[in-house]
Amino acid sequence: MFQNIEPAPADPILGLTEAFNADTRANKINLGVGVYKSNEGVTPVLDCVTEAQKQILATEKTKAYKPMAGDPAYGKAVQALMFGSDHEVVTSGRAATAHTPGGTGALRVAGEYITSQHPDATLWVSDPTWANHGNIFSAAGLKTKSYPYFDKASNSLDFDAMINAIKQIPAGDAILLHGCCHNPTGVDPSDEQWSQIADVVAERGILPLLDFAYQGFGQGLTEDSQGLLALARPGSELLVCSSFSKNFGLYNERTGSLTLVAANKENAQAAFSHVKAVIRRSYSNPPAHGGAIVTTILNDAALKTQWVQELTDMRNRINTMRSLFVSTLSAKGIDQDFSFITRQQGMFSFSGLNKDHVQALKEKHAVYIVGSGRINVAGMTEANMDALCEAIKDVL
Ligand code: LMR
Repeated sequence: MFQNIEPAPADPILGLTEAFNADTRANKINLGVGVYKSNEGVTPVLDCVTEAQKQILATEKTKAYKPMAGDPAYGKAVQALMFGSDHEVVTSGRAATAHTPGGTGALRVAGEYITSQHPDATLWVSDPTWANHGNIFSAAGLKTKSYPYFDKASNSLDFDAMINAIKQIPAGDAILLHGCCHNPTGVDPSDEQWSQIADVVAERGILPLLDFAYQGFGQGLTEDSQGLLALARPGSELLVCSSFSKNFGLYNERTGSLTLVAANKENAQAAFSHVKAVIRRSYSNPPAHGGAIVTTILNDAALKTQWVQELTDMRNRINTMRSLFVSTLSAKGIDQDFSFITRQQGMFSFSGLNKDHVQALKEKHAVYIVGSGRINVAGMTEANMDALCEAIKDVL
């Protein structure tokens, strides 16, 4: 079984971390994987998380299995965070949430749900999209096709091409949309554009599948849910995959969720029974700890306030790094205009650097960024900025 096996290709994002860890150069910089770093270059445990963990340890009574969909209190807290607890989607009972192992787990379960119930459906993904989307959905047996999204010449959303392509998607197919902080481009639709997207998907009978991994990293928790709220109109159907890796810093706790919104409560319950069946045959039931942390924080007014502040601090630091990056590149006399980077949002900057630049940054300067030219701005610090911009100047 294990002879004459060709090694699998390195993962475009996590494979970079492996290469980075193996690099022995002292001043290496990892701006590949989307992980937040403080100005001191560490990925901190948020203070609200430390406090919640103390409470959990003091009160935990059992390690018995959670239900297949996780703790109902977690699902309730997640829905309130995304939609607001008074939203009709929540109060009507037409939303059902499963606690999944990270956002990746949510996407995989969503993909398998679609193939199990709608084997002929195609999922349309943006061009470009997160490097792992294709792997996840093909492993789930789901066919994917792409729609245009990004205009390289202007470094902005090609909305006309996007909306025209969506108008051609057949009824009964699904479309993957990034809820905010599009990965890898950092370019999102405006609120007005979201409402046009929501109109078209509703008119055509296309199922939106929202990848919502960065709530709070763009403009703020409420501002970042405008796309989701536009899609969650009366009678709408929707799947939302969210992640608390970034906004709670819970990367290694694998804490995410899949929320299914059906036209009514009865439909939601029937469809959700198949989501639970997918979970049962994949990992049975979710790991508890990260979900308990999120539930504890969201249900405690003081901890929630502390969390919102810590999230705001992370967002502000990233935005400070965006501006510093652009001004340092310009101070080094680089002609190319990089000001578009300050208009992108979330963790990433789609820098426009090409494959040769990326390769040279790695080989000559021990600077690791994703092959698409995506740079993790959240990994920049005041200390590594000068060396980073010097390296970019050299490869340009
Ligand atoms: C990323 O895009 O870097 C993150 O979502 C982490 C990952 O798993 O790829």
